[in-house]
Amino acid sequence: MAKRAIITGILGQDGPYLAKYLLAKNYKVYGMVRRYSNPTFDNLDYVGITNKIEYIEGDMGDESSLMNVIRVVRPDEVYNLAAQSFVGDSWQMAKLTTEVNAIGVLYLLNAIKYISPTAKFYQASTSEMFGLGNTKGYQDENTNFHPRSPYGIAKVYAHMMTINFRESYGLYTSNGILFNHESPIRGIQFVTRKITDGVARIKLGLKDKLHLGNLDAKRDWGFAGDYVEAMYMMLQQKKTDDFVVGTGINHSVKEFVQLSFKYAGIEDWEKYIVIDPRFKRPAEVHELKAKPDKAFKQLGWKPKVSFEELVKMMVEADLKRVKKLL
Ligand code: NAP
Ligand code: GDD
Repeated sequence: MAKRAIITGILGQDGPYLAKYLLAKNYKVYGMVRRYSNPTFDNLDYVGITNKIEYIEGDMGDESSLMNVIRVVRPDEVYNLAAQSFVGDSWQMAKLTTEVNAIGVLYLLNAIKYISPTAKFYQASTSEMFGLGNTKGYQDENTNFHPRSPYGIAKVYAHMMTINFRESYGLYTSNGILFNHESPIRGIQFVTRKITDGVARIKLGLKDKLHLGNLDAKRDWGFAGDYVEAMYMMLQQKKTDDFVVGTGINHSVKEFVQLSFKYAGIEDWEKYIVIDPRFKRPAEVHELKAKPDKAFKQLGWKPKVSFEELVKMMVEADLKRVKKLL
């Protein structure tokens, strides 16, 4: 019989890539969606699998809806990708971010414990939990957490609760501590997509300026399509464990900007950039760089798409998308 997987956050960036990967492995994939007035399936359309998913309603803020999802699906694997995932908004919406990203995970873990205790659970943990924990110039599984945002703090709670359900009740739970990963279906608020969309609009004459915040921040950026493979691999291990997933190489926001303009064929990038304090954060995470040796060795995972290939892929996709608006 086909294995059954639930993906929460199916309509986001990672959900569609993971669903496609699992469908290719003959899983029956259930996608949890929250109630919408006007739902959009654009990201699933982009990867071409909208009609291959079984949708089920649930909200991370509502415990009984999560109980119902687990009761109806009886999953073999649960991938919890749902979150208020935009760090920048988490100061304004600290309570909501905590309810969805922290308490929602407790609800989901309880639902698994009481209804489907043999289900394996993947939690979308994040390098944002490290924050200032960067004493050696990189972060691995042993690096201390020092989160700098309500988002990061809520994710630390969920991370530790995921470990606690493993230690207390023997559930199969795993945290993937993923560094930034991007794609042509990345949300438009995140800096990479904001840049590639902005560059495409400038190139095609729909915009003259791109407003950004801190250009010196450094991130370890990879391709989302590669990272979902690591999520799957984590749940296939004999012994449940937590893994850092990244490329091991970082770049500044400025480098991302320069390369994007270059791929769009624009030389004098600086004249289009406006440094705008609205996009600076009350407390910044200045630099993230993974040391993903454990994932490379134990999971046999490796990223395939380079930084340059990722930027090119995103610029080309946005040029194509924006051209259709003309
Ligand atoms: P994303 O594009 O923002 O997708 C998040 C999904 O969560 C959206 O589909 C959203 O639904 C859903 N969601 C939000 N609140 C919900 C609620 N109350 N109930 C049910 N669903 C809800 O994020 P992503 O980039 O795919 O990332 C997936 C996960 O990995 C997130 O947990 C994120 O925090 C974590 N993560 C991401 C990265 C990265 O670089 N992308 C790195 C580390 C960790 P709507 O479509 O209805 O808004
Ligand atoms: N969004 C945004 N917009 N960020 C900007 C801008 C801007 O105009 N200008 C500079 N930045 C800087 C931010 O200050 C930050 O240092 C960096 O660009 C990356 O910002 P985001 O793309 O918003 O991502 P993030 O690193 O804060 O968070 C993402 O990665 C985390 C993993 O480290 C999200 O996907 C999180 O959900 C994820 O956990």
